[in-house]
Amino acid sequence: MNPTNRTNPSNPMYSFTPTGEKFQLPSPEDYSTELGRLKEVINHQRSLGREIVVVMGLGFVGAVMAAVVADAEDSKGKPTKFVIGMQRPSTRSFWKIPLINLGQPPVSSEDPEVAPMIDRCVNKKKTLTATFTYDALKFADVVIVDIQCDYLKESLGNVREGRAEMEALEESFEIIAQNISPQALVLIETTVAPGTTEQIAYPIMKKVFKKRGLKGDPLLAHSFERVMPGKNYVASIRDFWRVCSGINEEATRRVVKFLKDVIHTDKFPLTVLDRPIESETAKIVENSFRATILAFLDEWSLFAEQNGIDLIKVINAIKVRPTHNNMIFPGPGIGGYCLPKDGGLGLWAYRHVHGFEDDIFKITPLAIDINDTRSLHVAQLARDALRNMGRPIASAEILVLGASYREDVGDTRYSGSELMVRRLTEMGAELRVHDPYVLHWWEFERQDEYPASSSSLKRFFRGQEKLKDLRVEQDLRKALHGADAVILAVRHKHYLSLDPDEVVANAGGSIAVVDCFGILDDNKIKRYFELGCEVKGLGRGHVKRIKDQVKG
Ligand SMILES: NC(=O)c1ccc[n+]([C@@H]2O[C@H](COP(=O)([O-])OP(=O)(O)OC[C@H]3O[C@@H](n4cnc5c(N)ncnc54)[C@H](O)[C@@H]3O)[C@@H](O)[C@H]2O)c1
Repeated sequence: MNPTNRTNPSNPMYSFTPTGEKFQLPSPEDYSTELGRLKEVINHQRSLGREIVVVMGLGFVGAVMAAVVADAEDSKGKPTKFVIGMQRPSTRSFWKIPLINLGQPPVSSEDPEVAPMIDRCVNKKKTLTATFTYDALKFADVVIVDIQCDYLKESLGNVREGRAEMEALEESFEIIAQNISPQALVLIETTVAPGTTEQIAYPIMKKVFKKRGLKGDPLLAHSFERVMPGKNYVASIRDFWRVCSGINEEATRRVVKFLKDVIHTDKFPLTVLDRPIESETAKIVENSFRATILAFLDEWSLFAEQNGIDLIKVINAIKVRPTHNNMIFPGPGIGGYCLPKDGGLGLWAYRHVHGFEDDIFKITPLAIDINDTRSLHVAQLARDALRNMGRPIASAEILVLGASYREDVGDTRYSGSELMVRRLTEMGAELRVHDPYVLHWWEFERQDEYPASSSSLKRFFRGQEKLKDLRVEQDLRKALHGADAVILAVRHKHYLSLDPDEVVANAGGSIAVVDCFGILDDNKIKRYFELGCEVKGLGRGHVKRIKDQVKG
């Protein structure tokens, strides 16, 4: 299916890539044609002795995992697997299928391995294809589940008022069971509420197996992803330690074998746990631990601001001690898809999967709540910096540098920047944004339906309608022109060496600068003050000292 610019009035359903290329969604007739294509390809692949692997969900994890599996070779350098990436043909995601089939990655990242790997597997090794039909499951020796399992929060800064959104996952387990051969291994990689494999997936699939007259148990296993989209995207899947567990001996044997085939377990040994709930819990505890060490610094960040301390230097001083070298400065809130939700899946499972009524969780929900609201403080810093310059926040032109949740990636999910844009808008400011990795900030452009109609963060703020018109500027000079304030929100490499003189010249005069991530060193802070600017920063109480020195 090629990109098309035709408008077909009888079928106006298109899916758009982030760069605006549009692909027509499949029609009912396309399904039989697609099944025919798959049958032909798979007959050929089987004749080459390759195992057929279906990866369900071609998102940030599934798309690159599919390529890693498709790229796997035996000791003689021969490919051992043929991968079918399977993706729902929704308007939001269908475009990923034709893009992959052209050999192009559906995710943007700084890792130079991603694009050539997908191109190599699709066009040269011919070990990877993508499809929209669940019929693909019928051919699978292994199914990898990489679809999402969201946690919907009902209020801002209170993770306890929320729930795991299990519907997509539950539906997928049913569809998988209806289609797979009983010998197929089903490997759940999705981060799930602990207990999901044994207490949700197993009964759903077993019931369908019974209806199909199949006697055996579904071969279910869990092994979570530790993928880090960014510079080491591929390596964080292929060259990294894995934890896994199967629902029974056979499932465990199969998952261990599969992971040994596709991941460099010789250098990064596998940890095999007794039960899937242990593997599921390992993921949730791992991310809750990280959320907690980040949240812990929020109060010390405020302490630093109020007492003339540079928290960045304090952290660096502590990190010299090897026992404390994993301390990290939290930036403007902890976004990304995982840390804001994973602890919530644990809380939810305790009550709704395992049936407990008591409240044992103290630290994990508190950490998430702190992280979820940390970036609101950035709006206060911008307000105060502008006030010191005699400019009201209402109607001030504020440029946010960085829309994504972390440096050098294009993933905007739950980024601290989103929350600060929403709060500053509520306070009357005019917002603009620059991000070299983000072409469309869908959380704003499509805020009525993204991430879902009920879950946009817009519902927690007033006056958000105009944010539908917010567009990500790619030209930094243009973005700076006429700005009253600049918020350094993400540590993208493009922002680390910005020269204060150039920034001020491009803005056309003095500005308020808010540093959310320890991006400015003391010389730059000093220079901004010399240029008549105001500077504030998360955890950077020492700027006042520098200001006093400059102003004499
Ligand atoms: N993004 C990360 O950095 C990261 C890291 C570690 C773990 N994880 C976990 O991995 C899982 C996937 O995350 P992601 O970031 O890839 O999510 P994502 O939203 O980018 O991708 C999920 C994909 O699954 C598709 N999908 C949903 N239902 C489907 C169905 N029934 N059939 C086929 N496709 C379907 C969606 O359309 C989407 O393309 C989550 O559990 C997440 O917590 C993510």
